Amino acid sequence: MGNFLADKVIAVTGAGRGIGRAVALAAAAEGAKVVVNDYGVAVDGASPADGVAAAVVKEIEAAGGEAVAVADDISTMAGGQRVVDTAVRRHGRIDGVVCVAGILRERMLFNMTEEEWDPVVATHLKGTFTVFRAASAVMRRQRSGTLIGFTSGSHQGSVAQANYSAAKGGIISLVRSAALGLHKYGVTANAVAPVARTRMSANVPMELAEIGEPEDVAALVLYLLSEQAAAQGVTGQVYTIAGPKIAVWAQPRELRAAYAFDGWTPERIAQFLPGSVGVDPLPLLSELAAMEEAARGPDRPNAR
Ligand SMILES: NC(=O)c1ccc[n+]([C@@H]2O[C@H](COP(=O)([O-])OP(=O)(O)OC[C@H]3O[C@@H](n4cnc5c(N)ncnc54)[C@H](O)[C@@H]3O)[C@@H](O)[C@H]2O)c1
Repeated sequence: MGNFLADKVIAVTGAGRGIGRAVALAAAAEGAKVVVNDYGVAVDGASPADGVAAAVVKEIEAAGGEAVAVADDISTMAGGQRVVDTAVRRHGRIDGVVCVAGILRERMLFNMTEEEWDPVVATHLKGTFTVFRAASAVMRRQRSGTLIGFTSGSHQGSVAQANYSAAKGGIISLVRSAALGLHKYGVTANAVAPVARTRMSANVPMELAEIGEPEDVAALVLYLLSEQAAAQGVTGQVYTIAGPKIAVWAQPRELRAAYAFDGWTPERIAQFLPGSVGVDPLPLLSELAAMEEAARGPDRPNAR
């Protein structure tokens, strides 16, 4: 056992499988007391099954670590609250929450139903809010703590996952808001955009050139949960981790501006905008043809 997170109390949602499980195991192996949350659902969020979180708790205990299972649905306020309350009741504090739980319901926008939109946004975006909400109230009193959200490169846009993309973009804005709103209480908030081999990434119709294992993602998460990251002023950031690569995403900012102090008209904008403010091309547009081909055929072309 290491001691990188000695005695920290950490809650991880979606910790029964994939990346969340790797984070929970690694945090416990580094001395953290872990709340292992998982609702035990299929990739599409259906068929909750008992025992998925409890199985990871058994693994942690077998390795000499300390953990407790919470099998709630974190898309409910009560579920998010129970994750945090479980930590506080057992250990009197909560030092970090890692919101990993996620599902997919893929469909083109023009065919997407409310039943495909709502649960995806509820699991990712609301499921991060419910846990951040409960944890931040405790962390504000403690004057310390770390909130970690899970986003995706798909926050840039997605052909057939507008629900997932919108939720992942929302998580980035939620994380930035948490970083701003809790800064004066000594609480940090960051987002991770992973690329790792799990049952979820097995659905991607492209062969990804840059991909790693859940354990690679866990290493970054453990750093973000540590005293070192807080001391190094890491907050409000979005990091990609894909195997050997770690990348930081840019903060959104205005690129170019133009002013008409006597007022704009649509005609004037049409004449003026292209040569002045212009556009900032959508990077994924140039990859569309390859992505569409991949979605159609059995061949899996390489993609970034
Ligand atoms: N794997 C990748 O390459 C990749 C890429 C980008 C983003 N992500 C994100 O990383 C996170 C983890 O993905 P993964 O690949 O490990 O997926 P996974 O399917 O292996 O694990 C997700 C876990 O979340 C749990 N879960 C789902 N809904 C829940 C709910 N309402 N309450 C509690 N638990 C719930 C599931 O039961 C499952 O065990 C997700 O947020 C995903 O969107 C993953």
